[in-house]
Amino acid sequence: MPNQQEINRTARISYKEQEKPREIFSIMPEDAIIRVEDLYKSYGPIEVIKGVSLTAKEHDVISLIGASGSGKSTILRCMNLLEIPTAGEIYISGKRLPLSEPKNGVRKITSEKELRAIRTSLGMVFQSFNLWSHLTVIQNIMEAPVRVLKKSKDEARANAERLLERVGISEKRDMYPSQLSGGQQQRVAIARTLALDPKVMLFDEPTSALDPEMVGEVLQVMRDLADEGRTMIVVTHEMGFAREVSNHVVFLDQGRIGEQGHPSQLFKSPQTENCQKFLSKVL
Ligand SMILES: Nc1ncnc2c1ncn2[C@@H]1O[C@H](COP(=O)(O)OP(=O)(O)O)[C@@H](O)[C@H]1O
Ligand SMILES: [Mg+2]
Repeated sequence: MPNQQEINRTARISYKEQEKPREIFSIMPEDAIIRVEDLYKSYGPIEVIKGVSLTAKEHDVISLIGASGSGKSTILRCMNLLEIPTAGEIYISGKRLPLSEPKNGVRKITSEKELRAIRTSLGMVFQSFNLWSHLTVIQNIMEAPVRVLKKSKDEARANAERLLERVGISEKRDMYPSQLSGGQQQRVAIARTLALDPKVMLFDEPTSALDPEMVGEVLQVMRDLADEGRTMIVVTHEMGFAREVSNHVVFLDQGRIGEQGHPSQLFKSPQTENCQKFLSKVL
């Protein structure tokens, strides 16, 4: 087992080595996995998302960056209908999210079945790992495949074991989350999300709750997923990750897209004053 320093060092080295030009970001609607069109979200009288459109196609790794409160989490939460957009449409693989037209400003989910399918096809990883505390690591990973996908326990267990190996914590399989470090818990959370084989992985600041020495191990797992071609949308303050792993960066500014582009361009020469200011604070 490599120690933590080795893991961190490997992460850093491979970041540098990997100045691969990922595919150029394209916005051809026909090959989009997620398409967000003119999204608005208000909480009461306060509009927090003000007309955001973005598209992810297969293998894209899109980083959402921006100041706290700019609306990053809200956009992710609208994608899987943890929040109901006030206006705008979202398409997953061309299929429109099941939302009614607004009636007195309220939209409703029109199909619970479609909602479940969406939640399965979009895997979400949160800042706070949200593991089941009464289940062991392997049980946490097996739970949804057995309950939601109706897989047999044997099949779910075999798959969980493979995923645990992939995130490097096979030896923790029978422990409870409270017996694991934050970095290990987040890796379990990622494995749990992978167990449903989602079309897209949504990450909301997955390393923000971690002690600094554990950030590297989680970023490494995310990087491996990107290298495997997973489609990912990542809200992050890790600018190294955004710059080196993603192929498109979206800077959110008070509920709007302030600027977006390939990381090599956006980080080097941001065009807007607000993006320049933001980057000068975080870089
Ligand atoms: N459930 C809610 N009720 C009211 N306001 C909210 C709620 N969730 C988020 N907000 C507000 O929406 C804005 C955007 O929040 P959020 O999407 O969490 O931003 P970020 O993730 O970029 O920090 C913030 O001003 C926040 O206070
Ligand atoms: Mg947030």
